[in-house]
Amino acid sequence: MTAQRLLVRDLAQLATPAGEGAPLRGSELGKVDVLEDAYVLCTGETVEAVGRMRDLPTELAREGDVVELDGSGRSAVPGLVDCHTHAAFGGDRVEEFSLRAAGATYEELHARGGGILSTVRATRAAGEDGLRAAVERHHGWMLRHGTTTFEGKSGYGLDRDTELASLRAIRAAGGIPTWLGAHAVPPEFEGDAESYLEFALGEVLPEASRLAEAADVFLERGAFDAAQARRYLEACRDAGLALRLHGDQFTEQGAIPLAVELAARSVDHLEATGAHGVRTLAASGVVGVLLPASALFLGRPMPPARALVDAGAAIALATDFNPGSAFCESLPLCCSLAATQLRLSPGEALCACTVNAAHVLGRAGRLGRLAPGFHADLVLLDVPDWRYLAYHLGGDIVAEVVVGGEPAELR
Ligand code: NIG
Ligand code: FE
Repeated sequence: MTAQRLLVRDLAQLATPAGEGAPLRGSELGKVDVLEDAYVLCTGETVEAVGRMRDLPTELAREGDVVELDGSGRSAVPGLVDCHTHAAFGGDRVEEFSLRAAGATYEELHARGGGILSTVRATRAAGEDGLRAAVERHHGWMLRHGTTTFEGKSGYGLDRDTELASLRAIRAAGGIPTWLGAHAVPPEFEGDAESYLEFALGEVLPEASRLAEAADVFLERGAFDAAQARRYLEACRDAGLALRLHGDQFTEQGAIPLAVELAARSVDHLEATGAHGVRTLAASGVVGVLLPASALFLGRPMPPARALVDAGAAIALATDFNPGSAFCESLPLCCSLAATQLRLSPGEALCACTVNAAHVLGRAGRLGRLAPGFHADLVLLDVPDWRYLAYHLGGDIVAEVVVGGEPAELR
């Protein structure tokens, strides 16, 4: 059986990160190749060719097996890659959101047993079927905004069964699972982080390491300290997982030096990162994942994105989708925040949530660019200029999404 072919034709523009390397940094980060009046030809799940309409091979027109998609008036970008989400959760935090709107702070609510721990209660109560339904629903929301690849973290179960069910639910919805076993100390451990880690590494890691690709830790006052984070990450590394850290969200607690020392894939948040941290990260291979929707949602300072890029750091852009600190699944909105709040160009934002995000997930050879040999994931914007991705603040600009060479049903 021959593979199905899909021809996306007459695109006003096709925009893709320039070059072939990953991660992109410095002046390379913002470089975008733009083709006017373009096509993308997909064979099966793979991009076979991209080019100008005038160069479209004429014999294609004679081959009957090509499905066509009209791209006129539209622009195409690579399928967006969300490399940081907490998609596996039950319940919501709308009550807490209202309290925060009236002045309570995120850290106060967390210290009072609300915050992450209230989502832990709801997630444990959801059961595996409930969790699968929740992640599937969240996946549909992301796809509607052009996300064709998402990473999803556990971290709201914090007991063996719910952590493993979360990882399975993420995988079942097509996500890339990360075990966030060190997100908070659950109530049954009464604040004893060491005993909790003993349990998590002894009882959960052996199976979590078979289900997940990476491990993540929340290194912050009120969560896990640097010594505990090191213990957790070293054990996870020894079990074969790639490493990620939530670091410098509220305070600098040594996340960047630890990430560099352990050769983590990324350190994420960085709202509290100072000049020394910027220099340390820039001199390393660790990607700084910026989450401007989270800073906005919590009314926190934005991360020093411009300083990081100018110093030569590799950065990625992600939503941090979760019920407490960033109830936002839209990477286009994050691109707008990148341009308006982080002082990044639309090109830097595009590269940060495509090729560099794919690098964080260990998939830059196959995802994040529109080029022959890449997975045939693309987003058609309903406008003839791809920069609307950042320009149209909160705009409903995604007209069509192609996943693995097939037009997706958007809900
Ligand atoms: O990335 N900071 C830690 N974890 C999540 C928020 C979790 C929550 O509030 O439920 C974050 O912001
Ligand atoms: Fe997060």
